[in-house]
Order: sequence, then structure tokens, then C-alpha cells
Amino acid sequence: SKKVVLTEDSSLPKAKTIKIAEATDYRDKRVRVFGWVNRLRVQGRDMMFVVLRDGTGYLQSILNGRLCHTYDALTLTLESTVALTGVVQKVPEGKDAPGGHELIVDYWEVVGRAPGGDDAVTNRISSDADPSLLYQQRHLVIRGDTASAVLKVRSRVMRAFRDHFDSKGYFEVTPPCMVQTQVEGGSTLFSFNYYGEEAYLTQSSQLYLETCLPSMGAVFTMAESYRAEKSSTRRHLSEYTHCEAEIPFITFEDLLDGIEEMVKDVVARVWAEPAARAMIEQLNPKFSPPTEPFVRMRYADAIKWLNEHGIKREEDGKDFEFGDDIPEAPERRMTDAINKPILLTHFPGPIKAFYMPATKEDPRVTESVDLLMPGVGEIVGGSMRIWDYEDLKAAYEREGLDTAPYYWYLDQRKYGSCPHGGFGLGIERFLAWLTDRFTVKECCLYPRFVGRCQP
Ligand code: 4AD
Repeated sequence: SKKVVLTEDSSLPKAKTIKIAEATDYRDKRVRVFGWVNRLRVQGRDMMFVVLRDGTGYLQSILNGRLCHTYDALTLTLESTVALTGVVQKVPEGKDAPGGHELIVDYWEVVGRAPGGDDAVTNRISSDADPSLLYQQRHLVIRGDTASAVLKVRSRVMRAFRDHFDSKGYFEVTPPCMVQTQVEGGSTLFSFNYYGEEAYLTQSSQLYLETCLPSMGAVFTMAESYRAEKSSTRRHLSEYTHCEAEIPFITFEDLLDGIEEMVKDVVARVWAEPAARAMIEQLNPKFSPPTEPFVRMRYADAIKWLNEHGIKREEDGKDFEFGDDIPEAPERRMTDAINKPILLTHFPGPIKAFYMPATKEDPRVTESVDLLMPGVGEIVGGSMRIWDYEDLKAAYEREGLDTAPYYWYLDQRKYGSCPHGGFGLGIERFLAWLTDRFTVKECCLYPRFVGRCQP
């Protein structure tokens, strides 16, 4: 058969190159759109439907007649890049298409081909593949509708956190990730050789944020934190994005109020944006922004709750006792049963970090808080900080920690100390809750966990 070659009809109006998100403004106009073939359907000999993706959105496009007869058309594959030129039209009544319009193509070209056959993208990321294989192909998986929606929501969420803190007058800081101190215990430290000295990847920027209070007042950061978690769970990463804030001259009550207000405000900000809201509704149809006051519950009452509901310790099948750490599974069972955000407070000192102060009323418990969300469990950990010099030194001694590498942290208690507190929120856990993902591994670009440091 004769080779069909397309030429652009020069008598047509000149096409303006646009992004898909702008298409509504170009209805009935001739435009050119560059993007990836997200979906492809051939209907008979004379019609092809292409859903084009360009990052800003999806555009249903129709290729008719000769446009479907070229070699490029007959061999077109998913994920190939193309330039489609044509007129944007509102879809007929009763028909559905992204944005409510479609592109009636009059000319098109392939920009970059993607393989078909065995090496076709669908074979690389087929949905029945074993999940570990999908993490290996994550660079292709992120092109998918679901993965890209999660990553776009993530972008909006991070902006909303920044806007939230900005609206309260907090300054953003960027503390170092290479450190010589621990924050959350030695067992999850990643260490490395720093010019011949032992150093670690930071577990939390908290100690550095504390040093910023006398300099800038309330501060926050969105930095990576690192934890050498020994096992792979639904909610543990080796590298995660940690949103942390630190605030001077507050009470424990102020801290709890601030965490609750932040979560509500960040959700409200994202929800107010139509595109972000649509993606959340697509990912998590049951979601509605929290408006009720969060449940406030003491650790001691959580222990009671677990025992009253027959939830036992995993190691010996016995009742939980005051002083036990509440592991992930029982914590999630309780949170799911209560099915509301819970500010869980007043944990016993020995199961919490060295810097947490005991309460005045009961020296066995600390001014500490975890925020638990249905479906995920803990998404925030926070506390007031020991702010008296001698008390902090005693805490180091109790923990058997050498104070020398922490001289700068202790100095904060020497040069004008103040009552203060703060918290850290795992961005991936927040997203797992907001977008109803099974695991935090789906809520970051390239997850790092035991056995995976690629791509
Ligand atoms: O409870 P964590 O360990 O608290 C701190 O690091 C404090 N120094 C924070 C502060 O007060 N500035 O961690 C805080 C949050 C957790 O609630 C969780 O959301 C997240 O960080 N997180 C993890 N997320 C993913 N993978 C992991 N391995 C995580 N470990 C903690």
C-alpha cells in the first residue's frame, strides 16, 4: 500500500502551543499540545482516540481518516511523545472527557517513540506484578494516573504546610542533614565516615530548630530525616520528609492546640484548591476534612482502652501494662476503632526521648504527644523540651549519653533558656492518611526502605 504522509494545512489558522490545563481558555481555537500518550484506543480503520498527558492534565483527542493511516499511527504506542494539533471542542451533551472537552486533531507528529511488544511499558508495570518489582520500576510507575495524582497532592500539601507556618509568622530554616548527635535513640542511626570521623544522617532537625528560637523565634523546616528501621512496614521509610516546628514560650496546651490547628488548616488549604480537591476525591472518595475537635486521650487511658477491648501484647498475649510501648498494630486497631484523630498524651518517660520533661503533677509521665490518624496511626510526635540546664544534664546521664557532642544544645539552656516545645510530622504518613494509600512507600517519589536504594 502507498505510504501516507501528513502535511499541515497552511490555510488553517496558526496553532498556538498550549498546556492542557489552559485548554478551557482555547475552546474552538486551533492549538498544539505536546505530551505523552496516556491511553490509546483504535476504533476501526478510521478513528483513534488518544488521551494525552502533559503533567498539567489529560486531554482526550480524536484522530480521524488519513491521520490514522500513517506508519506512525499504525505503530503508535503508549508513553510515546507526540505533538497534536487541532481544535479544542466542548464534548457533546452526555459525553464525559477530562476538562469537558476534546481535541479534534487535524495534524500530528511523533516526537519520541516508546517501545511496544515485550518491552512495552504495560509489561514493565503491569498491575498484577509483585510490588517489589513495581518499586524497581518506580520511574515508570510514577507516570500512572494514581501515582502522579499522589505526587501532585504531595506538592500541594508541602506548599500548604509552608503557607500555614508563614501565616503564623514562623521562619523556615534548613538545618544540616550530616550530624554528630542523635535525637531519637541510637538504634536507628545511619552512620557514615565523615572525613575520618563518625557522623550520622539526621533523625530529626529538632535540636537545631531549638537553637533557632533565640535567633528567629518560632521556626519550621521541611527536611529529610533518616532512620535505619530494621524491618519494612507499611509506615516506615529509611528516608522521609519531616515537617518540624519549634515554638518558644508556650505551654503544653498551646502545643496540642497548635498541632490540631495545623492539621485542620493544612487540609483546609489543600481542599480549597479545586484541582487538589478533585485528586483527593479521586484517591480517597470517603474523605472529608476534619472539623470536630480532636479526641484528647492520655497514654494511661489508651492502655486501659486496649485492655477493655481485649487487645493483648504480642510477645506474651497478656494485658498491656503502664510503661509498655504501644506497638504499631494495637495503636492502629485503637485508632481505627475510635475512627477520629487522637492526640495521645502523657507517655511515661522511659519509653520516650531523653529531652522530654516530666509533668509537675506526675513525674512518671512526660509532656509528650502523638497524633494518631485513622488508617495510619501516628503521624505526629511532639513534646515540650527540658529547658533547665541541670535537668537536661541529668537526662543525658540517665540515658548514658556523652554530653560533649551536644555542647551547643546544652548552651541553649545556659544563655537565656525558655519553656518551649515542638513537633515533627511525617509528610508521607500525612499523605497516606489524606489520600488513603496502603503504605507510605506510595507517598514519596522514590521510597527508601530495607533492601531498596534504587532507582
Ligand atoms: O516521633 P518522632 O520520632 O519524633 C521526632 O523525631 C521528634 N524529634 C520530632 C520533633 O519533635 N521535632 O518522629 C516524628 C514523626 C512521626 O510521627 C512520623 O510521622 C514520622 O516522623 N516518622 C517516620 N515516617 C516515615 N518513616 C519513618 N521511619 C518514620 N519515623 C518517624
